[in-house]
Amino acid sequence: MSRIAYVNGHYQNLRDAAVNVEDRGYQFADGIYEVCEIIGGRMVDFPRHMARMQRSLRELRIAEAMPLASLKIVMEEVVRRNRIDYGIVYLQISRGVAHRDHGFPSPEVKPSVVVTAKSLNLAKNQATAERGIKVITTAENRWPRVDIKTVCLLPNVLARQEARDKGAYEAWYVDAGGFVTEGASCNAWIVTKDGKVVTRTAASGILAGITRAVLINVLEAMQLKLEERNFTPDEAYHAAEAFVSSASQIVMPVVSIDGHAIGDGKPGGIAKRLRAEFHRFAAIS
Ligand code: PDD
Repeated sequence: MSRIAYVNGHYQNLRDAAVNVEDRGYQFADGIYEVCEIIGGRMVDFPRHMARMQRSLRELRIAEAMPLASLKIVMEEVVRRNRIDYGIVYLQISRGVAHRDHGFPSPEVKPSVVVTAKSLNLAKNQATAERGIKVITTAENRWPRVDIKTVCLLPNVLARQEARDKGAYEAWYVDAGGFVTEGASCNAWIVTKDGKVVTRTAASGILAGITRAVLINVLEAMQLKLEERNFTPDEAYHAAEAFVSSASQIVMPVVSIDGHAIGDGKPGGIAKRLRAEFHRFAAIS
């Protein structure tokens, strides 16, 4: 079955789908994106993803390309046409197409909208979660507005590749103060030896993950103690557990950081419980 993409009003075979070479997303990374998990063919936490998308657009002064209700129909249609049961749907909106000039196009142009979807292998994902992943740390080198979900991901690409080159799965950024910010494409968490779940506040240095926000509700419901505060790699090396969160991985246990085994070197109990409980708290539309 060929995969289908939506590009500016048209559903097309993915292999033929293309944007204009003067699309500002292509030339300047002048655009934003969202990734929603698909479970049983349905989008997970769609309203929260759309609220964050609207905020990203506002922060970059990109116009809303279409009403939210229409966008939802398009995203559902891409999921349906690709027959995704478990996977992700990807939405990208750029400022649009204009002759190359750094300043915003004047008059304003219509934003470009692209939606794709892909199946993920649930069994493989689960097997990875049962083993846990290895993480390395790397110096934070992104722009300060990482709160906006832009497609400007070159530092993230390089960090992920550095992790792979070192035999790990993900890289955690460490800021100039020596504190972990987040992963190349996920939020970072640790669990202290006395059972407190720690993650950096969303006030600076990270993307406010939707999975992170839902997990905070799960923690409350499970009566686990949350501490939103900075932590260092050294604290993480000695933590009882560590894990990452994102729409495509939900909760993925971390068993090694920079070669230091975390806890007993196996996925931690709290990470496993959070992973198991997550979808009871997520909004599935
Ligand atoms: N990444 N931080 C960064 C830098 C991310 O790229 C992501 C998500 C997150 C977690 O956000 P959420 O829980 O809303 O997915 C945090 C997506 C999945 C990606 O780039 O594929």
